[in-house]
Amino acid sequence: MDGNGRWAHNKHESRQYGHKIGSSKVYDVYKICTDLGCKSATFFAMSSENMQRDNDETEFISQLLVSSIEKHFLDLLENKIKFKVIGDTSSLSNDIKQLINTTEQATKNFTEFKMYIAYNYGGQWDILNAVNLALSNNDSITHDTLSNYLSTENDFPDLIVRTGGYKRLSNFMLWQAVYSELEFLDILWPDISRRDIELIFEQYTATKRNFGIVK
Ligand code: FPP
Repeated sequence: MDGNGRWAHNKHESRQYGHKIGSSKVYDVYKICTDLGCKSATFFAMSSENMQRDNDETEFISQLLVSSIEKHFLDLLENKIKFKVIGDTSSLSNDIKQLINTTEQATKNFTEFKMYIAYNYGGQWDILNAVNLALSNNDSITHDTLSNYLSTENDFPDLIVRTGGYKRLSNFMLWQAVYSELEFLDILWPDISRRDIELIFEQYTATKRNFGIVK
C-alpha cells in the first residue's frame, strides 16, 4: 500500500492524513477483491524497515490498525473472514496485542476467506521465524515444513500488487513470492479504485502460469 505520504503531500496534508485515508480503503479493497473471486488477501501496512520511521508515524499506524479492527470486527464475523496480523507484533502494547488476539481467535476457524495485515513484517523475518519454530519443535528444515511454519501457513500469493510506482518487493513474502505474478501500479494507494482492481484481475486471468515447467 505504497504512496500514502505522496498522496497527502500532493494535497498539502500531513503524512498521517494520507495513512488515515489509506487505511480507510483497506476493507473496501478487500471486499472488491472478494467480489471478483479472490478469497485471500494480505495488506502490507508496515515493513520491518518502516518501523525505523519517526515514532509518531509508527504509533499513528498502530492506532489505525486498532481502529480498523474495531470498525470491522463484526463484518469479519458476519462474512466469515479469517483475520490475522502477520509480522513481529512483540513491540505493540498489550492492549493492541489483546485486540489482535481476540480477533484472530474469533475468526480462526473460518476457512473460505482470509484477510491478513502485515505489520512490522519482513520476508526475511518470516523465514527466520519459521526456521526457529521448526527447530524448537525438533522438525527438520525441508521445503514443506518451512512453508508450513511461515506466517502465511503454506498459503502462497498468486498475485502481488504494489501501488506507488516503485518496482521492488521491499522484503515482502520473499519465500512465498517464488511464482507470484507481480503488478506495479503508478497509482498512489489512496487513489486505487474498483476499476484498477478489475483491470489487474483481468490481466492476471489472461496470464498463462506454468510455474517454471514447459507445458
Ligand atoms: C507506504 O506509503 C505506506 C505505509 C508505510 C503504511 C501503509 C499503512 C496504511 C495504509 C494504514 C494502515 C492500515 C491498516 C489497516 C493498519 P508511504 O508512507 O511510504 O508513502 P510515500 O512513499 O508516498 O511516502
